[in-house]
Amino acid sequence: MKVVTTRAELRAVRAEFPRLGLVPTMGYLHEGHLSLVRMAKQECGAAAVSIFVNPTQFGPGEDLSTYPRDLDRDLRYLREAGADLVWTPRVEDIYPSGFATTVTVGGITDVLEGARRPGHFTGVATVVAVLLGAVSPTRAYFGQKDAQQVRVIQRMATDLALPLNVVVGPTVRESDGLAMSSRNTYLSEAERASASVLYRALGTARAAAEGGELDAHGLRRLMAQLIVGEPMAEIDYVSVADPDSLAELATIDPARGALLSLAVRFGRTRLIDNVVLPGSR
Ligand code: PAJ
Repeated sequence: MKVVTTRAELRAVRAEFPRLGLVPTMGYLHEGHLSLVRMAKQECGAAAVSIFVNPTQFGPGEDLSTYPRDLDRDLRYLREAGADLVWTPRVEDIYPSGFATTVTVGGITDVLEGARRPGHFTGVATVVAVLLGAVSPTRAYFGQKDAQQVRVIQRMATDLALPLNVVVGPTVRESDGLAMSSRNTYLSEAERASASVLYRALGTARAAAEGGELDAHGLRRLMAQLIVGEPMAEIDYVSVADPDSLAELATIDPARGALLSLAVRFGRTRLIDNVVLPGSR
């Protein structure tokens, strides 16, 4: 496994791999990240991972300065997962002096996470464009855990005609259903215990929809009722949205399906999760 920092080092090592899958990350890796690394390795024959806590996707008052980091542990996990190349750029390797380009994806960024975190997806799209341009992977891997991020990157890759495939991996969960996240480490023991309500709420709404409840308002209320029952949880949003436009629905069209998603605060920690109701078409 080669570990590189500068773009020149990256270029030299990149040339060794005819096909390469890239997993962009912000580090503090867990099984969600590693499942993407294994998928990349299996599908492309070689896996690259970038570890970069991207300052431009954090808003003022968000957790940039406290975002968890442990490079030694990350590199140990990546060796075990079979990664071939790890890029750990410094801020100046991504944003050298004179850097003046931003990538803004319109429309789908106006809602959900985009509405609550102004500028977040411009930060994400811009850094992912730099990472993809520098690594030039055959395929790039992203997790369904961040459903809107996936849509934003797919839109960017299509619109900019990027010469690669975007692959989406399933959300990896703890045994009680909590989606794995580097931010779970912020939770106190009591908050961690009550955070399992997120997946319970999504699962209950999914079961109701599968049972014929297609009224989106009713499904939002069902999720909200469960979450409100947890004293430590504070709802940011619960959403039943069109899977493509991400616009809030009044009624689910079974042919199109829906994206059920939510953002909930536990103390100072904000967690997101989602499940997809597949369409019958
Ligand atoms: P990060 O939160 O480190 O996540 C890196 C990748 O791992 C993302 O594609 C994310 O969706 C995926 N992931 C996280 N938790 C997961 C889980 N429980 N199951 C499956 N996949 C999971 O997302 C980012 O970093 C950044 O925004 C980034 C794309 C690297 C740009 O800075």
